[in-house]
Amino acid sequence: MSDYFADKAQDWDKDTTKRSTPLSIAEAIKKNFDLNKDMSIMDFGVGTGLLGFLIAKDVKKVFGVDMSPSMLKKLREKNTPELSIEAIEQDIVKEPLNDIFDGIISSMTLHHVEDLEAFFTSIYKNLHTDGFIAIADLEKEDGSFHSDNTGVYHFGFKKEELCEIVKKCGFKDVTLDNIATINKPQRDFGVFLLCAKR
Ligand SMILES: C[S@@+](CC[C@H](N)C(=O)[O-])C[C@H]1O[C@@H](n2cnc3c(N)ncnc32)[C@H](O)[C@@H]1O
Repeated sequence: MSDYFADKAQDWDKDTTKRSTPLSIAEAIKKNFDLNKDMSIMDFGVGTGLLGFLIAKDVKKVFGVDMSPSMLKKLREKNTPELSIEAIEQDIVKEPLNDIFDGIISSMTLHHVEDLEAFFTSIYKNLHTDGFIAIADLEKEDGSFHSDNTGVYHFGFKKEELCEIVKKCGFKDVTLDNIATINKPQRDFGVFLLCAKR
């Protein structure tokens, strides 16, 4: 399996936008859900942990799932005895986890998932009753966000279409709101947070 993020991992955390968007996402997650020290959370597409570490402070444990060995290598270098994320190297679209979590969070990874219905049906099974999802990604865009669209299956998402899919997969209390804007030279890109409960 090729590691699309191999050449990006080294400098990932040096990009100020990549560091600032997860701050807005973490703040929005905490506004929507009461995190506590009993919770086990999965961060889907955890990458170097930019979102996961912000959430790890408030919960029992974050399990960071990613299929990129190079992104997870960077994440492991950031682990300390005081604050750490347990890295799980796995493509959970192809090979779902059997574990059950109190919540599933994600930042900028959903556009890499081709079959959304299969994905949401699969992660529904990874949640306790009343468990939550909080998934951030791009609002509908024109394909100009990434300089290389390899591995990008969606140029952002339309609110109504995505909410419909999530409801169809069994989730309740589905909401989707704009929480941040990423400014690039070519244009601005809206970032949403999709929240729902099992
Ligand atoms: C755009 S990066 C975002 C990383 C991090 N969440 C952040 O905001 O900085 C997307 C990450 O999702 C991972 N990813 C994409 N599809 C995946 C899959 N099916 N299973 C596990 N990880 C996946 C990639 O390897 C990559 O590290």
